[in-house]
Amino acid sequence: MAIFKVFRYNPESYEIARFQEYEIPDTESMTVLEGLYYILENIDPTLAFRSSCREGVCGSCAMHINGEYRLACETQVSDMGHNVTIRPLAHMKIIRDLVVDLTPFFDNYEKIKPYLINSGPVPDKEFKQSPKERKRIDHHVDCILCGACYGSCPVLATDSAYLGPHALLKVLRFVDDSRDDAAYERLAYVATDYGIFRCHTIFNCQQVCPKDLDPTGAIGKLKMKAVKGKLLGKLKKTGT
Ligand code: FES
Repeated sequence: MAIFKVFRYNPESYEIARFQEYEIPDTESMTVLEGLYYILENIDPTLAFRSSCREGVCGSCAMHINGEYRLACETQVSDMGHNVTIRPLAHMKIIRDLVVDLTPFFDNYEKIKPYLINSGPVPDKEFKQSPKERKRIDHHVDCILCGACYGSCPVLATDSAYLGPHALLKVLRFVDDSRDDAAYERLAYVATDYGIFRCHTIFNCQQVCPKDLDPTGAIGKLKMKAVKGKLLGKLKKTGT
């Protein structure tokens, strides 16, 4: 058996935010997400939370579980000692219970133009990339945009204008991509007070990332590139 303490809040009702306790039987091999579904289907159909793939791919089920941001579908109830306290992601408006409004998260993501920019001639089939070039972005492309890093970032707690670790990690992903030639513009966009220089190198994002990515390290690399101005050559090449 396990005890789930789940954050409940409905901004459309007069009830104040609270934790609600649920008892869940048979928790052998059960994930926290399965526990939430058990509650939804057997105890309380009003509980709201997000999920989709149930296998650590979509990023929908990131939440604050026993003091850390984790994916509910990848967290075993037994690993939590059968006592599970769950809150929603921080720094975003609560829509209901564990569901937050991800608009600021994706707005910031959109700002960094998360797609390849290439001003050269369009190839017949595809832009080619050698295995060595691909290796440079290997790690960064694994980000599933779950929001765990965003919720854990203390800078975002006080400054919503900060682009955030998820967006800045993606900037490095495109800066390091051999098929992208907008590195200078990308770097110029984030080398500001609301971009890379707003990061205080606290490493929370690196600690919580369920895909073992390193947004803090990525931001550090962008800072180095910005300071060294190594992208000026690209500026010339693309004529921008
Ligand atoms: S439900 Fe997709 S990552 Fe958890």
